[in-house]
Amino acid sequence: MCGIVGYVGDKNAYPILIKGLHRLEYRGYDSAGVAMISDEGRLNVYKTKGKVSALEHYAENKDISGTIGIAHTRWATHGEPNDLNAHPHYSENGSIALIHNGIIENYGVIKTMLSEKGYTFRSDTDTEVLVQFIAYLRAENHCTLFEAVQAALNQVIGAYAIAVLDKDNRDEIIAARKSSPLVVGIGEGEYFLASDATPICEYVKDVVYLNDGEIAIINRHKPLKVYNLNNIESKIDIRKIEMNISELEKGGYPHFMLKEIFEQPRTITDCIRGRINLEGTNVILSGILDNKDKFLNARRIIFVACGTSWHAGLIGEYLFEDLCGIEVKVEYASEFRYRNPVIQPGDVVIAISQSGETADTLAAIELAKSKGAFVYGICNVVGSSIARATHSGTYIHVGPEIGVASTKAFTGQVTVLVMMAMVIAEMKGRISKDKYEAVLRELLAMPESIKHILAQHEHIKDIAAIFTYARNFLYLGRGYNYPTAMEGALKLKEISYIHAEGCPAAEMKHGTIALIDNEMPTIVIATNGSVYEKTISNIQEIKARGGKVIAVVNEGDEIVSKMADYCICVPSVEECLTPLLSSIPLQLFAYYIAVNKGRNVDQPRNLAKSVTVE
Ligand code: F6R
Repeated sequence: MCGIVGYVGDKNAYPILIKGLHRLEYRGYDSAGVAMISDEGRLNVYKTKGKVSALEHYAENKDISGTIGIAHTRWATHGEPNDLNAHPHYSENGSIALIHNGIIENYGVIKTMLSEKGYTFRSDTDTEVLVQFIAYLRAENHCTLFEAVQAALNQVIGAYAIAVLDKDNRDEIIAARKSSPLVVGIGEGEYFLASDATPICEYVKDVVYLNDGEIAIINRHKPLKVYNLNNIESKIDIRKIEMNISELEKGGYPHFMLKEIFEQPRTITDCIRGRINLEGTNVILSGILDNKDKFLNARRIIFVACGTSWHAGLIGEYLFEDLCGIEVKVEYASEFRYRNPVIQPGDVVIAISQSGETADTLAAIELAKSKGAFVYGICNVVGSSIARATHSGTYIHVGPEIGVASTKAFTGQVTVLVMMAMVIAEMKGRISKDKYEAVLRELLAMPESIKHILAQHEHIKDIAAIFTYARNFLYLGRGYNYPTAMEGALKLKEISYIHAEGCPAAEMKHGTIALIDNEMPTIVIATNGSVYEKTISNIQEIKARGGKVIAVVNEGDEIVSKMADYCICVPSVEECLTPLLSSIPLQLFAYYIAVNKGRNVDQPRNLAKSVTVE
């Protein structure tokens, strides 16, 4: 939820920290701050409400010297976003500074205890309580910073990724994680620290992902040391990052979201690369083949996910029932984790997450594992917590998604789900050769089909201009396109702040139709398929009530195109692949409306890319 960066080495820390914060700004942008030990040995803390650019402005003409520092960009949980609540927080005696991503649940008890001992607090945050607690334990026990952090973390309840700096030790950062991600980059005589690899990849390729309950001693003169809360030293597992710097830049586009929408022909290619044999006749997914029995004997598949990834799960429901004949449930991870869900032998849980860090999805996975389920992950971020917590999985490989609104990750998730369903359907003998070949052929042609839709961006932009006035939108779809309609509505809501509802087209007449008038436009996905005719009736019902209709139809459509006010054409494909195409114009439509309204498309209000708190 918040972004953490740290550096210790022989370079000036400040530019590295600021650049890192910009890369992590998608994780939170309520306030930002930095703590550095200056060349003169002072602990300088600069922090301010607003974005990282506000921090840069604030720090102008201040002492930004020093080769060690930590920095933070915040998405507020405790305390409103203001200068005081911004991180870093520091101890009363000004010697220890700390940044934190997560929530300390028992901060109230600790705060009361410290207050009784005379400690005072400047902010409303749980984080300030933690840094004061560490300072208190250090003074009480006359111990090192590492020992004080370890003692404190043994007493706190909650989720955290933290980095701690001590004014009297210019060589060392102490970092720890539980349920919030943290990665250490290892260079020559220097270390980097961050919530994910994006701020690190331009400097080093060797990284260590900290595990839950681990504390790292990051000392510029010494090899990295990692211990658990019981002081047992952990084995250092160095991984290589393959991220490319150009993937983190806008590449000439005005927003990351637009870049990511336009990247989809390539990201789908990356997603299927190496998973379809050279002859183009077979899908090969090692995660499924390695666990063949689990999938062949699956009694039920339960998808757990949140937001856009949950919509991908809904498409998975159609795919796995339709192609594989397996019963499917789709669960909001946040609900699943707090129920007492029935998991039986033979149930396979599939967790879907772009970031691989969503707290609710992670908790749902742990619950499913504790009940004996086999858990499979579909993630984008390599080495993420969910990728590591699941028994096996498939990466979507669409590259870093920076825009807060998920676009290319969604189509990557659906592509993986299609491939999984094909492999399982074939293993079960449930798919005909003709159908298998047709789906595969169209999957391979998907990048070209998407390019074809992207080429209509000016047309979509024009339609968006006509409807930017609207205060409410309805999105309708049936069958495979019902989840797509939900996803289209979510895209519009999150970046334009226009209210939008996604609804199964036929459900409309059970209530939602009451909303229809000439001020509430409806987007209807009416591509060919088993429910095409039914959808036509739904369009007639809207038109009869004076509603405006924007329809997503197949090229050559003759019926809906005469009824709808505006049409956007997508190529005709096998029904199970339609979400991959019909979602693209909806992404563009939401994007152009948001731009017309002057919204901050990449960093919409109140949202953050990675939701690592409940
Ligand atoms: C919407 C969006 C969110 C995420 C959700 C889950 O555009 O991005 O709804 O889909 O927060 O995130 P992940 O997929 O990272 O678990």
